[in-house]
Amino acid sequence: MTGDAGVGGDGRVRNTYVFDNAGGQAPGRFRALEQFFDPGSKRLLIDIGVEKDWSCLEVGAGSGSIATWLAERVGPRGEVIATDIDTRHLEPLRVPNLTVRSHDVAREPLPENRFDVVHTRLVLMHLPDREKIISKLISTLKPGGYLLLEEFDSVSLRADPAANPAEFDFATIRAMYCLMVQRGVELRCGRLLDSWLRRLALKDVASEGRLFTWRSGSLGAQLLSLNIEQIRNDMIAAGMISNEQVEADLERLAEGDATFPSPTLWAAWGRKPRE
Ligand SMILES: C[S@@+](CC[C@H](N)C(=O)[O-])C[C@H]1O[C@@H](n2cnc3c(N)ncnc32)[C@H](O)[C@@H]1O
Repeated sequence: MTGDAGVGGDGRVRNTYVFDNAGGQAPGRFRALEQFFDPGSKRLLIDIGVEKDWSCLEVGAGSGSIATWLAERVGPRGEVIATDIDTRHLEPLRVPNLTVRSHDVAREPLPENRFDVVHTRLVLMHLPDREKIISKLISTLKPGGYLLLEEFDSVSLRADPAANPAEFDFATIRAMYCLMVQRGVELRCGRLLDSWLRRLALKDVASEGRLFTWRSGSLGAQLLSLNIEQIRNDMIAAGMISNEQVEADLERLAEGDATFPSPTLWAAWGRKPRE
């Protein structure tokens, strides 16, 4: 699946993703995402029917926690292909039926009619032409195969002190979302998934959302702090926030008394028609 489109001088595919895996914050980000969201993703994959001998594609696999779990579930005669635009956190994995591929899902092709299930989490929101990419993911499914997409909606349910005085609306988080939008991120991506899957004529489309209450000092607050740290200089350089405000918000995230809703992780799934 590798091609030469977007390959940088070091041989890695060039990365326009906001929270670049090369950043020192990436391992902490992956650990937090796994802890919050892997249980729900696994439940949905089990409900879809993933079982022995299935062929699975995990797109934008990150550090590979779901890919590794899938490999165990499908057993030695099944297979999992884990792709990412930057595979540095997947390369250490040594699982016999798990293959790691460097692949840019936005720009490179995928084989037709190949997989029983395709899963992706927190990838499409960052990419342009999402519906085109979803069509490509559908094409790579065998007839009757399942697509499971999971993406955040970060804005429909925000911290709102008027609704709950315990909630704190961080200026730095608002600035982070502004920068993300400027860089092409769709902050409502999760909420749109169900409609996209229906429009693309998948069968048995269904969806659900899950979110948590996060607090200062919690793993959720750490996840947000890591994201802020990674892009703080860009937000400040763009005049979206001052260094002092970032410092104050990071301190409040670490040890304050703030409560706030996490982004909502929407999952939407459906089956490719057999005809
Ligand atoms: C927020 S992380 C999510 C990782 C993992 N899916 C999870 O939920 O824990 C997004 C991942 O998508 C990858 N990614 C970004 N753009 C991509 C692209 N065009 N093709 C494939 N992967 C991409 C990033 O390198 C990163 O590993």
